This record gives sequence, structure tokens and C-alpha cells, in this order.
Amino acid sequence: MCLDNIREQFEIYKNNPDLVYLDTCATSLKPKCVLDKMEEYYTKYGVNIHRGVYNLSYKASSEYDEAREKVANFINSNFNEVIFKRNASEALNYVALTYGEQNLKEGDVVLTTELEHHSSVLPWMKLCERKKAILRYVKLNDEGRITVEEFKKALDNKVKVVAITLVSNVMGYVTPIKEIIKLSHEAGAIVSVDAAQAVAHFKIDVKDLDCDFLSFSAHKMMGPTGVGVLFGKDKHLKKMMPLEYGGDMNDEVDKTSVTIKEIPYCFEAGTPAIAEVLGLGEAIDFINSIGFDKIEAHCKALHEYALKLLEDVKGITIYNKTSECSIISFNVDGVHPHDASTLFDENNVCLRAGHHCAQLITKWLKVNGTLRASFYIYNTKEDVEKFVKVVKENVKFFSQFN
Ligand code: ALA
Repeated sequence: MCLDNIREQFEIYKNNPDLVYLDTCATSLKPKCVLDKMEEYYTKYGVNIHRGVYNLSYKASSEYDEAREKVANFINSNFNEVIFKRNASEALNYVALTYGEQNLKEGDVVLTTELEHHSSVLPWMKLCERKKAILRYVKLNDEGRITVEEFKKALDNKVKVVAITLVSNVMGYVTPIKEIIKLSHEAGAIVSVDAAQAVAHFKIDVKDLDCDFLSFSAHKMMGPTGVGVLFGKDKHLKKMMPLEYGGDMNDEVDKTSVTIKEIPYCFEAGTPAIAEVLGLGEAIDFINSIGFDKIEAHCKALHEYALKLLEDVKGITIYNKTSECSIISFNVDGVHPHDASTLFDENNVCLRAGHHCAQLITKWLKVNGTLRASFYIYNTKEDVEKFVKVVKENVKFFSQFN
């Protein structure tokens, strides 16, 4: 597939021909094949799964199981290590509320960082409060990065859980995760990885990483909203008790007892987001048909082009010039990001302004928020040029008030 024509796959551009969409970090656009797959389910075999003893239900069930297999292949896990949740936030909460709740004791340490998205840190903050455990932060380096050196300093045998992001949704930095996981295991801790921002950008191999848990959302990888994935090593999942009880997660129910199904089914009570899971399977096919090598190369080229055009622009501060992912966090000097974003909106440039659900890093940067432009496969050089043009207009417009 040639990335030059990729926009044809995204119908939103037909309805919004002037759209410059630079907010993929918040959610990606969805290709037609994903929407078609969901419609196919609703119009051709839109019935419940794993319950009906009739052909349409067998068809829906086998499509659903196939999507789980696709996810497993995508991250190189086993089929039974993939649990569907509503989104990455729910998956990350689930780790704290099951594994954390069932294993953490008073005085234990959960190690995390100021680069975390709220969903990665807050479930552990609240659990630590309840358990009288300690939430400890790894010191970031001068650039705001997680380094192995600082990680080592914060790690000791009191650390039982490491809750850490793979890619920062504000800075775009890639965490040196493999080494961090190895060190954590040597110290006796398990690692829960927030892969929400990473999953659409490069290949994730949970066996190679050796992570204990890994969470991501479908909607950030061109799949639908409403479904996310929790990967857990089967050795942990088999020991965990479910958080929710209900339909289809149990075997035998008596008046005073219940036996639960094997993993992953015991963690998926009730009718799941069937159409969305199928859409996620299709998004994976779509990504695979392009290939991460092309995705990475395209995003890198746009990112470098944007940085080059911004190089000589006076009156802005870029906070993450060395970011590995195609994210630019910046401010127009002296201007609140919400004010600056108005001019982008007027020019049909969609970007995010504010703290990006990651207040710890905006506080670390000592700003009340940033503007954030994120680039993906459907963005073009023209998008970058339009973006930079509006950056310059912003500087010019607000300079009259400074
Ligand atoms: N976490 C999403 C973002 O970074 C919503 O915008």
C-alpha cells in the first residue's frame, strides 16, 4: 500500500476537505475498512457471541475469536493472555484493582514516573492510599526523559510494581523499557506498561519485552472507540480473581457459590463490545498491510520536516525537540495554549491544547499546559506547512498584546 494515497481510505477527509488533523495522540482517524467491518457485523451476523446455539451466533463468535487471535499475533502473546476492556484506562485500572489489590501490602512501593498519563498513575495512587503502600517517582533527566540510570537509583527490593509508560503522550519519548523490565524483575517487581501511545507507532512484542501487563486502546491505532486490550502473562492472570462477575464469565452457579471460566473469559463479564472488537481486528489487518517500517518512516519524515520549518520561528518554545515519536509539544511564548488554539481551530488545524491528561509532566515543565501537534500516516507535507503557517500567524497575532 502506498502512503501517498492513504487519505482515500479515510472518509472523514471527504466530509472535511480542509481538515488538518494533528490530534492523533487523542484519537486516530478510522479507515473505511474498520467502519465497513463493524457494519458487516451489524448487518450480516449482528447477534451475541458464545451463547447462541445457532449458525449466526457461531459466525459472530468465530469472528470475535479470530479478532482476539489477531491481537495476540499483533503483540506476540498467547490467545488466552488477551483480555478485552473498554479502553487503555480501564485496562490499566484493572491491573491495579486485581493484581495490585490482591498482592500489594502496607509498606510496599509502586514505582512510577512524572511522564505518566493519568490512567497509568492514578489507579496506583488510590490503591497505595488504601493499602498504605508508597508511590515513588523516578527522577526525570533534564530533558524530561526516563533514564535507566535514574530508574536504577529509585529501584530497591521494596518495589513490587512498576507502572510505566512506553511512549509519553506529551513528550513522545520512548522509554528504555526492555532494560527497565529486566531490572525490575531482578528486584522482584512486576511491570505494567501503558502502551496507549506506542501501539500505533512501532511493533510491540510482549515476549521480547517480557512485560507482565500491557494496556492499549483500539481508538489510537485506527480502530473504534469502546474497546481496549489488557495483555497479562498467563502466570499472573491464572492467579488473579476477576473484578466483575456476571454473564458468560462463570461455569457453575449455585445459590452460594460460583466457579469461574478459564482465562481470558473469566475477566470479560457480560456482552462485550463485539462490533468494536471486530473493528480492532480489521485495524490490525490495516496496519499490517502497510507495515510498521513505512508507518515509522512516514511519521519521522513529517516530524523532521515540521521541526525544520519551525527552527527559525522566534517566539515559540518547543519542549521535546528530541522526541522519537511524531509529537511536538510547544507554546507560543506568553500565550495560554487555549488562547493559541483558537487560531488553529479557525484554520481547521486540529491539535490539542492543555495538560493532555498528564498534569505531572506539564507541572514538571512548569507550564499550565502545552499545544500538542501529533502526526500520523494520513498527514501530509501540506498539513505540516499549514500547521507552521498558523504557528507563525499565532506569534504575529499575539505579539501585539505582549
Ligand atoms: N490520552 C489522550 C491524549 O493524549 C486522550 O490526548
